[in-house]
Amino acid sequence: MKILVLNGPNLGRLDIRDSSIYGDLNYAELKSLIESAAQSHGFEADVRQSDDEATIIGWLHEAADEKLPVIINPAAFTHYSIAIHDAAELLTTPLIEVHLSNPMSREDFRHTSVISGVANGTIAGFGPNSYVLALIALKNLLQ
Ligand code: DQA
Repeated sequence: MKILVLNGPNLGRLDIRDSSIYGDLNYAELKSLIESAAQSHGFEADVRQSDDEATIIGWLHEAADEKLPVIINPAAFTHYSIAIHDAAELLTTPLIEVHLSNPMSREDFRHTSVISGVANGTIAGFGPNSYVLALIALKNLLQ
């Protein structure tokens, strides 16, 4: 089954972000880890990243139209993008929110997610393994 794994702003630059917060993998390594974990759980993951809100909204529209399950790390958009919230609400398939870090243990402005309320669930704080756990959760939801 095809799924979309969407990544928001600055996740394409994990190579220069704080590795004590986001871990040691660069984006290409994260992408291939997600692709191979997805494959081992029976999914074909289309893993994408954009710094642009409109592009992410377009991908959510595509998922809604094609009825594709979605795993999303909205990155900073998590905390304020009502437009991504509204697009996520259009999905009739499962949506799982993931974060590499645990936003609840960080600055106050990261404590609000406008996405969590329209996701089936959120997995945060386990580094790249957050995505692997999300794939397991997704598989369970779809069984
Ligand atoms: C993040 C957490 C967000 O607060 C932050 O803006 C990010 C990454 C994470 O994966 O831990 O860019 O979504």
